[in-house]
Amino acid sequence: MSDQAEGRPVAASAIREHIYKVFPNDMNSNATVFGGMVMATIDRISLVVAERHSGRVCVTVSVDDIHFLAPARTGETLIFSASCNRAWGSSMEIGCRVKAEDSMSGEQRHIVSAYSTFVALDDDHKPVTVRPVRPETDIERRRYDEAALRRDARLKHAKALEKLRGGQG
Ligand SMILES: CC(C)(COP(=O)(O)OP(=O)(O)OC[C@H]1O[C@@H](n2cnc3c(N)ncnc32)[C@H](O)[C@@H]1OP(=O)(O)O)[C@@H](O)C(=O)NCCC(=O)NCCS
Repeated sequence: MSDQAEGRPVAASAIREHIYKVFPNDMNSNATVFGGMVMATIDRISLVVAERHSGRVCVTVSVDDIHFLAPARTGETLIFSASCNRAWGSSMEIGCRVKAEDSMSGEQRHIVSAYSTFVALDDDHKPVTVRPVRPETDIERRRYDEAALRRDARLKHAKALEKLRGGQG
């Protein structure tokens, strides 16, 4: 808890409702929004949250499963929200949620969620310790607790892969 008390509030770095209007040049061959564009936007927005939180240049080290829950179509509006769920040594987990909106009717659908891990770098491009996160709302506290489970799983997975490859990368 003392760790959290010294931390930077989640709201200080969060991005709320970044708007992206979908046009025909964003489509895939199935006439739905190209997933790569959505992934790139998630990465850019999450990066800004990590850099705001840490005050450092950051790089993406890992992205957990991305699930496309529903398609989005031309004319719709994509709404991206991202926040720092938790920070450890040099790494931070950023959660990003994307909704698609029919702006005429106001109907919104949750279409994608992603959890990305970013590492803050010092001036020599080496990982550097970042300040902790201070969750202040029930949902921020839930995300903070869940982030620990995801970190355990992703580090175990990374370690198992490294072992399998015999440290060959
Ligand atoms: C990110 C990078 C600097 C980390 O270097 P490293 O030598 O692995 O450094 P460390 O072993 O000290 O790990 C740094 C942090 O990353 C975390 N980390 C390393 N591999 C990870 C993985 N696969 N998943 C999640 N976190 C990971 C570590 O747990 C550590 O976090 P902590 O300080 O909070 O405990 C290095 O891997 C790198 O440059 N990767 C390429 C990044 C890049 O170019 N991204 C752009 C997308 S292509």
